[in-house]
Amino acid sequence: PSKERARVYEVGPRDGLQNEKRMIPSAQKIALIDALSACGFERIEAASFVSPRAVPQMADGAEVLAGVTRAPGVLYAALTPNLRGYQAARAAGADEVAVFASASEGFSRANVNASVAESLERFAPVAEAARADGAPMRAYVSCAVACPFDGPTPPAAVARLVESLLALGAREVSLGDTIGAGTPETVRAMLREALEAAPPELLAGHFHDTGGRAVENVAAACDMGLRVFDAAVAGLGGCPFAPGAPGNVDTRAVVLRLEALGLATGVNLDRLAEAEAQATRIR
Ligand code: HMG
Ligand code: MG
Repeated sequence: PSKERARVYEVGPRDGLQNEKRMIPSAQKIALIDALSACGFERIEAASFVSPRAVPQMADGAEVLAGVTRAPGVLYAALTPNLRGYQAARAAGADEVAVFASASEGFSRANVNASVAESLERFAPVAEAARADGAPMRAYVSCAVACPFDGPTPPAAVARLVESLLALGAREVSLGDTIGAGTPETVRAMLREALEAAPPELLAGHFHDTGGRAVENVAAACDMGLRVFDAAVAGLGGCPFAPGAPGNVDTRAVVLRLEALGLATGVNLDRLAEAEAQATRIR
């Protein structure tokens, strides 16, 4: 019998690179995405269409998407905080868009200068446009485990937000441990409630490795039925204010763990080595 599949959603070119202080030339981002396109990922998050004041590193999203050599079978995704971002992302050729809300008020205010409810209001026109265009829309829940401002996040807040985002029309909700504070225990407690709001097929795990537990958290979420995991090539990312702090969970580590659990990821590790070399050069 063929193996059960799991999907690794490569987010390094967006979530990883957005944290790099040095302005990375568009050509290097494009070369990284092209290398990743050969690895067997079905989704690569390539850019953000957010305020360039908020995240200067992502200001060249249109150039990056225009420069990428499209690989068959790969959807190139972009983060879109509002309708303006959605329109820019689609004009640039993004196949999939992603909205993002926080399960905590403190991070919502800091990240998008709005309450959680206000941020959801901004997504309504994005969702409507995506539906009209037939564009898949993904959604993130940030601070699904803990918030740098508000402390531990009540799992019920995550479940409520998952419901709202699915009601908006998100095809998948990615649960973000934004600050990498999660442990298998806290992740399981969060997922128990999230899974009351959505079946595992509609959820993804997005773990940052700040606390060094991200791979274990992937395994815990996998055990609870999730089959989609976000990861960044070479563990790109980290906090711009904490040199050396780990970023998103490393793609290779996630692939190896999922494969060890008996799941097929379709990711070619030899080709991934090429992309890792690019990522290391950029960093
Ligand atoms: P605001 O200040 O409340 O609203 O920003 P605004 O509408 O007044 O816009 C402010 C400025 O941004 C204006 O320009 C707008 O024109 C411009 P200014 O007058 O100052 O020159 N602007 C835009 N520019 C380009 N594209 C747009 C856009 N919209 C407005 N789409 C806003 C609200 C949401 C725009 C802002 O706070 C923002 O862009 N925040 C994004 C922050 C961000 O990208 N954070 C990182 C991604 S989230 C993340 O990493 C978590 C995740 O990985 C999951 C996890 O780990 O949890 C996804
Ligand atoms: Mg993230």
